Amino acid sequence: MKRAVCPGSFDPVTNGHLDIISRAARLYDELYVAVLVNQSKAGLFTPDERIEMLREVTAEYPNVRVDTFRGLLVDYCRAHQIGVVVKGLRAVSDFDYELQMAQMNYGLAGIETLFMPTNPLYSFLSSSLVKDVARWGGDVSDHVPKTVGRRLAERLPPRGGDSAPWRPEGE
Ligand code: PNS
Repeated sequence: MKRAVCPGSFDPVTNGHLDIISRAARLYDELYVAVLVNQSKAGLFTPDERIEMLREVTAEYPNVRVDTFRGLLVDYCRAHQIGVVVKGLRAVSDFDYELQMAQMNYGLAGIETLFMPTNPLYSFLSSSLVKDVARWGGDVSDHVPKTVGRRLAERLPPRGGDSAPWRPEGE
């Protein structure tokens, strides 16, 4: 059985993540979506909440399993007989760090990394950006699944920034 993993923080899952997950699910018999549990970095959503959202939005893909991991990704891969890590690449700026991780993971355990170019519709998208926009009452409905949008609105009641539209000085 060919297995791969899409690892990440998923705080929260965006349409960009979902694009990569759905495409990777077509390439492998079983695709694990593994949420990193990072005790030193509290996210907006708990790992359980992130998993719940991921399960909801991937329910239509029968070969996708959502799980958590802590520690090294390669140890998780070994424990689940996963040979490939799938990563989305949004832009060249992602490449440097992703290449380092891919080379490290290959060196540590012979785990391959497949880089998948993100759909250009989502090339600017990140969970942090979505949280920032939602925090200030911006519309993120094109960027996250509906259920995630609802949870963001509950968790981050809009603070409301300056209501006057910005004008260049002198106008
Ligand atoms: O969504 P993110 O935060 O960009 O995901 C980063 C992640 C979770 C894929 C990466 O930090 C990771 O694999 N962490 C697990 C710890 C590990 O294996 N570190 C060595 C990587 S070479």
